[in-house]
Amino acid sequence: MKHIDIVKLQQDPAYIGQAVTVCGWVRTSRDSKNVAFLELNDGTTLKHLQIVLDKAVITDVSAFMPLGTSLKVKGELVASERNGVEVNATAVTVLGVCPGEYPLQKKRCTLEFLRTIPHLRVRTNTFNAIFRVRSVMAAAIHRYFQERNYVYVNTPLITASDCEGAGEMFKVTTIGYSEDYKSAEEYYADDFFGQRAGLSVSGQLEGEMAAMAFGKIYTFGPSFRAENSNTPRHVAEFWHVEPEVAFAELPDIIEIAQEMIKYIISAVMAECPEELAFFDKFFENGLLDKLKSVVDSEFVVLDYTDAIALLEKADADFKFPVYWGCDLQTEHERYITEQIYNKPVFVTNYPKDIKSFYMKQNPDGKTVAATDLLVPGVGEIIGCSEREADLDKLLAAMEERNMNLDDYKDYLDLRRFGSVPHSGFGLGFERMLMYCTGVANIRDAQLFPRTVGSIR
Ligand code: 4AD
Ligand code: MG
Repeated sequence: MKHIDIVKLQQDPAYIGQAVTVCGWVRTSRDSKNVAFLELNDGTTLKHLQIVLDKAVITDVSAFMPLGTSLKVKGELVASERNGVEVNATAVTVLGVCPGEYPLQKKRCTLEFLRTIPHLRVRTNTFNAIFRVRSVMAAAIHRYFQERNYVYVNTPLITASDCEGAGEMFKVTTIGYSEDYKSAEEYYADDFFGQRAGLSVSGQLEGEMAAMAFGKIYTFGPSFRAENSNTPRHVAEFWHVEPEVAFAELPDIIEIAQEMIKYIISAVMAECPEELAFFDKFFENGLLDKLKSVVDSEFVVLDYTDAIALLEKADADFKFPVYWGCDLQTEHERYITEQIYNKPVFVTNYPKDIKSFYMKQNPDGKTVAATDLLVPGVGEIIGCSEREADLDKLLAAMEERNMNLDDYKDYLDLRRFGSVPHSGFGLGFERMLMYCTGVANIRDAQLFPRTVGSIR
């Protein structure tokens, strides 16, 4: 169907005075004696296009009035003081009718209500803005790595090894419940892969293998976590950006992570001004200033041990006790980024007992060369570490955790054949989107969020 994107008509003055054809959905409509007005949106911009229907030209406009109706409109594009441009219609065709039970009527709907109609909520300005920023952000991430010689690799989604060792893997099986098997071993031997398999929580282990060949790689794909946490920051299926860099030590990867975050934010600010202004107005007052100051300032790097000292001194009523060795809870992370620094903070050198087996052990014997990037409002957006490159130390860490070494044979080979210092991180893509838009619930950062007890 030959037609022009509404965004083009709004941006290019060359169309003024021309005959144009546009398609879209009716967002508002107003009928009066001699003239009727429609606002049409085709999804290419937040700004609706006003259609003027002169009843001397188009006598019956009633079919075009119901909100949500899809139309094809022919007419002349004219300049308008109020709207920039508008269309004086000469012919209108209904593409699809939309009865009154269409839930997106004039009244502004709450985000909670919109979550019950994920297939329709995308037609609102809020979701148009979220998903345009999401799309721009994805392209910016690829650009950042492509411009710097990283190889984009796709790691398997079905895997036999649990990267994070946190027992949060969804099982992949073709058999299902059966009493015929006497043991788990027997069951899995009979299963599709002949062994236990699950959906990957992270592409890191395979990413490391690729980095040992290509030097610098990144993945960008879904990860799955069967975490039983019903919070505004957790989903069972999220998108994960995971660079892995040979010859990089912890300070190097911190520099890369900071540069990447600033690059992404700058790209969104340059390419999505209309959307960010919308979020600044309706979601987070001061969002634009916040993003600008993130780009312009250095992130804080704070040792875990110092973070604990700050929290112990804090004038705050924490629900979870603070002591050296504790895992930082959301309330602690928020206190550090929101109350103390009010900007992104890398917390470094966590106790080894609360972190994963693959992290490089520091000479103190107690901590690992790991860092989480915490940001105000969202908390952790990046989990990062230098990897343990020494075979014996890695084996010891795995044995301490009673891991089955057989499952990690390939991974261990990396430490046997030309091992090098290397580091990487995982950025939660939706959490980054929340940070850039002020959207407070991760369920609104995906088309169809999957959470505990909820899938559609
Ligand atoms: O901190 P995590 O668990 O780190 C890893 O998976 C490493 N293997 C990454 C690496 O070094 N290559 O997860 C990384 C990030 C978190 O900081 C968070 O932003 C996001 O992934 N994330 C989630 N996002 C939404 N829902 C969940 N359930 C998430 N779990 C982690
Ligand atoms: Mg983490």
